[in-house]
Amino acid sequence: MSILVSASNLRDLPKQSFGRIWLSVREVVDRDGCIFIEGYEPERPSAEVAPTFGKILSVWGDNDPVQELVPINQNDAAPNTYSGIFGRDRFPFHTDLAHWRDPPRYLMLRCVKGYSDIPTPVIDGRDLVKAIGPDLLNRALVKPRRPCDGRFRILRLREPAGERLGLIRWDEVYLKPVSNLGELAISRMKAEIAKRRAIDRTLAKPGDTMIIDNWRMLHARAPVPAGLKDRIIERTYLGELN
Ligand SMILES: [Fe+2]
Repeated sequence: MSILVSASNLRDLPKQSFGRIWLSVREVVDRDGCIFIEGYEPERPSAEVAPTFGKILSVWGDNDPVQELVPINQNDAAPNTYSGIFGRDRFPFHTDLAHWRDPPRYLMLRCVKGYSDIPTPVIDGRDLVKAIGPDLLNRALVKPRRPCDGRFRILRLREPAGERLGLIRWDEVYLKPVSNLGELAISRMKAEIAKRRAIDRTLAKPGDTMIIDNWRMLHARAPVPAGLKDRIIERTYLGELN
């Protein structure tokens, strides 16, 4: 089934006039890299809602593909995780599972309990590619911070060909350079990201839903104030959109 989204639902997008044109979720994500849908069927769990939008990816083997994201203090989190490194501070811009050979294509974030004070900023990776140049990013070799399956797989910051064509992977924590070009590209990426004004989307109300093209957009998380620790966001990875 294809959900139709009106232009009035496309909050915070760069100002454009869509008139009375209606677009499917897939068309909007293809065009803009992500979509925000306000208060979509708040009483239904992500596992039920996700197939409306696309095919659920079981990236965690037999474990539940829907993960509950809750703010965790640094001392209470596993050390090799974002919460273990940043706690309730701001999470930097990243691609989810950037250190995997095949990062999941889309991620769906759904608000169970949210706050307007905690936006989920996004940056369009295509703007970064334009600013830095695809050639440097294509040739920039990086590796995961820790071995995956006992070895370090060499990866590119941008995939120039093949089935992952155009994939931009970014994670300043989990990816490390393995060449001078890799080092240069990472420093250029950091500088460009720091210069850019992100688009803030806020999962504030139950059912608020974001679908993000994880191969194109970088996302972050704003800091979580001490009093808002009961925030709950559900995350589900999708392989393709309907
Ligand atoms: Fe993430």
